[in-house]
Amino acid sequence: MADRPYTLLSCGISIDGYLDSAEDGRLLLSNEADLDRVDAVRATCDAILVGAVTVRSDNPRLLVRDRARREERVARGLPASPAKVTVTCRAKLDACASFFTAGDSEKLVYCTSATVAQARDRVGSAATVVDGGEPVTMARLAEDLYSRGVRRLMVEGGGMVHTQFLTAGLADELHLVVAPLFVGDSRAPRFVGDGRFPWNPDRRARLAEVRPLDDVVLLRYALSSRFRMD
Ligand SMILES: NC(=O)c1ccc[n+]([C@@H]2O[C@H](COP(=O)([O-])OP(=O)(O)OC[C@H]3O[C@@H](n4cnc5c(N)ncnc54)[C@H](OP(=O)(O)O)[C@@H]3O)[C@@H](O)[C@H]2O)c1
Repeated sequence: MADRPYTLLSCGISIDGYLDSAEDGRLLLSNEADLDRVDAVRATCDAILVGAVTVRSDNPRLLVRDRARREERVARGLPASPAKVTVTCRAKLDACASFFTAGDSEKLVYCTSATVAQARDRVGSAATVVDGGEPVTMARLAEDLYSRGVRRLMVEGGGMVHTQFLTAGLADELHLVVAPLFVGDSRAPRFVGDGRFPWNPDRRARLAEVRPLDDVVLLRYALSSRFRMD
């Protein structure tokens, strides 16, 4: 395949493997120490990708929070925060969402060919809408990001997006943070959905690091030969 960015998946889960509760409102899984770690990782990336459900339900800003990290990026000639990327089929996005309004970095929306016009109507003034094909594949999306200069991509969920990167063998590294709580409700979204994953009982992923961060723990997995320990 063509070149693609080094791709790092980042996700927080409950002990029983859920990304969120089944209720309205975002379930807090992370803690301050981990949020700071995520901020540091964001600062090393060229782009951050989340799925459209996450844009709608969590309304994330996806910015580098720490001023010194932002200034260090700007001193290197980079935007203060990475570009933001989302993917959608239905194109039901609101240009007032924080994804579009927060920060000055580039915003990219990949959507299926059938809904490009609709997406441009809705968010064309706030983002670059890219025809991602029919269907949008993460392989094509990753290649397109690479062609736009993205060399290091952070994927921050949700589960549908993580599942596609993992099953397509497009992930180089996984940062899985386990929070000390149970959700206990199968209506809640899981870290991944069904699929054929390259890592299974016959091919186990390599655990590269375990890092306690107050009451959560970071499990860092090396998923490709491109993995680099920093
Ligand atoms: N704990 C964490 O670290 C974390 C991080 C992020 C999110 N979350 C949680 O995860 C949940 C959302 O996860 P999710 O799995 O439901 O959704 P998601 O992955 O955020 O977004 C899925 C949506 O992305 C679009 N999409 C995905 N693949 C596509 C493709 N190949 N082509 C076109 N569009 C595509 C579709 O958007 P349309 O519907 O617009 O067509 C799809 O409905 C929320 O509860 C959120 O709070 C947790």
